[in-house]
Amino acid sequence: MLSSVVSLALIVAFVVAALVTRRKRPLPPGPKGLPLLGNIYDVPKSREWLAYQHWSREYDSDVIYLNLAGTPVVILNSADAAYELFERRSALYSDRPKMTMLNDLVGCDWHFVFMGYGNRWRERRRVFHQYFHPSAAMQHRPRALRGARFLLNCLLDAPDDFMGHLRHMAGSLIIGVAYGLEVQPKDDPYVATAERALHAMAMAGNAGSFLVDSIPMLKYVPSWFPGAEFKRKAMEWKKSTTAMVEVPYKAVKRAIADGMAPPSMILSLLGTLDGNDESTHLEKLYSGVAAAAYTGGSDTTVSALGSFFLAMLLYPDTQRKAQAELDRVIGNDRLPDFPDERSLPYITAIVQEVLRWRPVTPLAVPHRLTSEDEYHGYRLPAGAIVVGNGWAMLHDEKRFPDPEEFIPERFLTPDGQLNSEMKDAELPAFGFGRRICPGRYLASASLWISIASILSTLEIYKPLDDRGNPIQPSGEYTTGLVTYPLPFKCGFKPRSRTAEELIRTAEFHLD
Ligand code: HEM
Repeated sequence: MLSSVVSLALIVAFVVAALVTRRKRPLPPGPKGLPLLGNIYDVPKSREWLAYQHWSREYDSDVIYLNLAGTPVVILNSADAAYELFERRSALYSDRPKMTMLNDLVGCDWHFVFMGYGNRWRERRRVFHQYFHPSAAMQHRPRALRGARFLLNCLLDAPDDFMGHLRHMAGSLIIGVAYGLEVQPKDDPYVATAERALHAMAMAGNAGSFLVDSIPMLKYVPSWFPGAEFKRKAMEWKKSTTAMVEVPYKAVKRAIADGMAPPSMILSLLGTLDGNDESTHLEKLYSGVAAAAYTGGSDTTVSALGSFFLAMLLYPDTQRKAQAELDRVIGNDRLPDFPDERSLPYITAIVQEVLRWRPVTPLAVPHRLTSEDEYHGYRLPAGAIVVGNGWAMLHDEKRFPDPEEFIPERFLTPDGQLNSEMKDAELPAFGFGRRICPGRYLASASLWISIASILSTLEIYKPLDDRGNPIQPSGEYTTGLVTYPLPFKCGFKPRSRTAEELIRTAEFHLD
């Protein structure tokens, strides 16, 4: 009896001691900040990832802590920290911060990218996965191939609008996969609806723009109340985000009713419904998942291909090397196709380098820590927003020497094959852990075939100004969740008459 009391006392003493030591653990280092407001004024309004990387060096710690007016924020600046926390301890690090403006007021709670970790999210991610896992994504390759070939035609016809052509290509790929709908080359109503919604989501989701995100109770303020401008904006934005979910979905349902619906994710999902009570719930779920695919997959691909064009202007030798590989492997009498992938390692390395050099989402999407944790002796508080600084990881000079330079060779062995040690080194570009981008297989395939097709047939060059001098791109980028190169001039011309004929005679309509 006595021995069990002693054992119990020892256990209690141990637990108390452990709790006390845990409480005493310091927070990770970071700039000191002001009372109450914390680091609100320390964080720059643009390109925050650079400040985070700078602090990581200054405090000699890959994990940095910030207090944003009472909200704890932890920034992970190394691939090791991201692996340890987002991957190995993913059960704790897969939640999302609550975004009241976006989810509750603008009504984007159908989008699983913004959903908290739990069954609602899991159910949607599972449905999405069925259509975008590696072998499912293989089935979308013919569509990606045709999109790339159509893009070549557009680049020849109207080279100045190259960013518009990228938007059309990315939009029609994902609208085709999700809904089976055809997209008009110009002024397409589905693309226009989605662009309005994406704009609304970018505004409403911009961290720190709305007080209601810090004080959720404000969502109950009536919209006529003085100062409730945010509620009026939310009502306006909600119209576009709702239209984005409903307009293409209803179009597919009409096509199904007419017996005219081509294969798509929605067609196949609706085929599983049997009209029971669950059907209404599932219809909402499916329409939300399809819209999530569109919002996740359009801007991101456009940004990556924009960076590719920019890289080709700034690094003409890289363009020549890639074209030499294409000429050697493909020759001049056909266009590249997916089976060529294994024989074109330099093209694959360019795709990896584009994603590394100018990460599309430099800070991915913030995660949230669900219960207190400890890392390298630091205490990470429950409820902290945890941000993976993908930009810092992909610009770590130990892993990527001369990180600011565009060097596809870093992914290759000296004899020009893909370096297995660098396999997936660009992965932080797609985020982390259980939340990693589930559309990445389709994204990589579409980038690969677009880049291979463009380089094999077109020369990308700097157009001349009025005085006959090449126009230098600024190389600057927008800031925000998804970043794009600022508008720049870019010229495209066929590499040969045969290349032009190949482009003009290519098949780009789905059978
Ligand atoms: C170059 C192209 C792309 C990039 C760089 C990219 C990047 C990302 C990143 C960084 C995240 C957040 C990961 C995290 O929270 O840690 C994400 C999430 C997501 N992406 Fe992508 N993405 C791309 C293309 C696509 C495509 C083509 C689709 C659709 C087919 C897609 C659908 C999604 C969805 C649905 C999520 C939410 C995942 C979740 O919260 O569980 N993405 N993406």
